[in-house]
Amino acid sequence: MARSSLEDMPVLPLAESFALTAAYNADSFPDKVNLGQGVYRDENSRPWVLPSVRSAEERLHKQNLNHEYLPITGHSPFNQKARQLIFGRELANHQNIRTIQTVAGTGANHLAALFCARYVRPKNVFISDPSWDNHYSIWETAGPDITQKLYPYYDAVARSFNFEGTMAELEDSAEENDIVVLHPCAHNPTGHDPTHDQWRKIAEIVGRKRLFVVFDSAYQGFASGDPDADAWAIRNFYSTFFGYSSPLSKNPPAGMLVCQSLSKNFGLYGERIGALHLITHPSVSAEGAYSHLIRLVRSEISCPALFGARIVDTIWSDSELRTHWEKDVKTMALRIQGVRVALKSELEKINTKGDWSHITRQIGMFSYTGLSKSQVQLLREVHHVYMLDNGRMSMSGLNGKNIGYVARAIKDVIGQ
Ligand code: LMR
Repeated sequence: MARSSLEDMPVLPLAESFALTAAYNADSFPDKVNLGQGVYRDENSRPWVLPSVRSAEERLHKQNLNHEYLPITGHSPFNQKARQLIFGRELANHQNIRTIQTVAGTGANHLAALFCARYVRPKNVFISDPSWDNHYSIWETAGPDITQKLYPYYDAVARSFNFEGTMAELEDSAEENDIVVLHPCAHNPTGHDPTHDQWRKIAEIVGRKRLFVVFDSAYQGFASGDPDADAWAIRNFYSTFFGYSSPLSKNPPAGMLVCQSLSKNFGLYGERIGALHLITHPSVSAEGAYSHLIRLVRSEISCPALFGARIVDTIWSDSELRTHWEKDVKTMALRIQGVRVALKSELEKINTKGDWSHITRQIGMFSYTGLSKSQVQLLREVHHVYMLDNGRMSMSGLNGKNIGYVARAIKDVIGQ
């Protein structure tokens, strides 16, 4: 019998955002600051249960519900609401958008990659450089035969979205049927999004080369405070290629996938609630493709989890709760915008070397600070301020009590 080689396997590092949270929790320094994982925190650095979510929980509690299995496709009232949130009420009824509930955004991305690897069969997948680190792992795990190519998303000199670099890479290297992973809003980690005009030009390349787009929507609401405005790119691509009555494109790509996380905009991180939307051309039946998604879900998780789905459905079924939720999303987005302004002015006030205007030009949960890996390590080791090695700072970890401390720590690691 062949000897097991399990003992020879190297120990892999823990995913960085989770490793940082563990290190922060183990740190006993009283003024430690966590700017690592992409999670919302209130003015007191505490997790914030959205008041609309709390109200929905109370309503559900009174209903004395059971804990039966969901269908493999998930909680259908939730699927409908998730679709409305991404596509708007009008498009959400179109039969060429099929939705399956997933284990949060990660599950949606994983299912999308698995589906693409088996049934779309691209040669390459284009992922932004930089991106959420899990994009690279997910596509490596689910599609080991697909070549990962990075499009240069960030211009480190101009500190902005590298539109020309992105377009050139897709123009030169993408082939028909290749996958392009796009962040529709609040790009993680850079905080820079394409303008509407740039999105239209990206769509033009996607259409001309017949590329298969996978949108990953994890921060809807965090870019502008308005979930509808943040879904603009997805709705625009849908209307361009797959619009029910009159798609603008004559020869659209085979389909499109939209991964949706409700972790951040409902604050339901641990409930693992998300959705994957499969879009096909209106003249083609989506039934067969959808049934293959269902088969993949059955073999992975049988069916998804109930609680988060019930919360989202309860909020979206009631106009009063929904208005309350929209207010909650705005509260989070505005608080983050406020700490951006405060950090920039604090860094300037104490004459920290460099130009910090990018902090307020960036949007969403993160700032891509431009700090080097060694500066980030000094921040952690000397000042107990935790953020990703690539210089990404999760802004909601900042508040009136710690902004001065963090600004002084940054000034210290940068030097004169
Ligand atoms: C992040 O980017 O920090 C979050 O999305 C958490 C994670 O899964 O990495």
